[in-house]
Amino acid sequence: MLKQLHVDTKTILYGVIGNPVNHSLSPVMHNRAFAEVGLNSIYMAFHVTDIGSALAGVRGLGLKGVSITIPHKVTALSFLDEIDGKAQQIGAVNTIVNHQGKLIGYNSDCYGAVKALTAKTTLWEKKVALIGAGGAARAVGFGLLWEGARITVFNRSIKKGESLAKDMGVAFRPLAEFDQVESQIIVNTTSVGMSPNTRVMPITPSLLTPDMVVMDIVYNPLRTALIQAAEKAGCTTVDGLAMFVYQGVAQFEKWTGVKAPVKAMQQAVLDILH
Ligand code: ATR
Repeated sequence: MLKQLHVDTKTILYGVIGNPVNHSLSPVMHNRAFAEVGLNSIYMAFHVTDIGSALAGVRGLGLKGVSITIPHKVTALSFLDEIDGKAQQIGAVNTIVNHQGKLIGYNSDCYGAVKALTAKTTLWEKKVALIGAGGAARAVGFGLLWEGARITVFNRSIKKGESLAKDMGVAFRPLAEFDQVESQIIVNTTSVGMSPNTRVMPITPSLLTPDMVVMDIVYNPLRTALIQAAEKAGCTTVDGLAMFVYQGVAQFEKWTGVKAPVKAMQQAVLDILH
């Protein structure tokens, strides 16, 4: 039998805004976190086409915070009252705090990537191969750059890759030249390997050596072809769950001021992925 959901006039509403949004793992993760720390709050998913009117609604109805996901992370910027400096530089937000009617935008994806990697390795002066040049690459790339990593951007299309590398002030190489640059940390930020095309990976497995740290931001499946190949080669691996959970941890703490129950959030996501 379903347990009665506790919602009353004091319940605080949060949510994720995206399109599509039906695969988002954020509602399950944040609702488990609220229950775990005993907050009278709920988190919903909103399928949104018009980001401007949705954010007017956030203000009007007094939602205390929202997550922003694809395809609104960049367009949301122009509807905010304030943008955190890091989010500004990345050029995208994934977190909005409603501070007494003022909407403030942040980017916790960069924090998520740094936390996930630093659980396994240091970043200062490390040679990092950043694969991809889309929105995810921007957030992850700047996050690692601010931790002192020495990054090379690798991308299939040259124009997009060069453009991100220029914004970050780092080197660019076409993905086809991946074997020509030495790397200590490899981060895949592309969708290569994501379900349903789970057999593919962005680089040749023979380039992986045991001293490398390999991170994949894809979490569907958790053990991507790249992560499996890296494990086989003896590399240290970081899967996409860690980054996803830590970007959520940062959101939760910004919204509530309460320390996030990391383990419970991780378990909530794992329960769904399995
Ligand atoms: P996101 O915002 O999620 O990062 P995006 O902006 O569409 O998504 O960027 C997707 C990234 O994955 C790009 O770097 C893309 O490379 P291109 O710029 O060459 O398109 C990369 N990507 C997607 N599919 C790829 C594939 N099959 N092989 C290599 N790179 C791929």
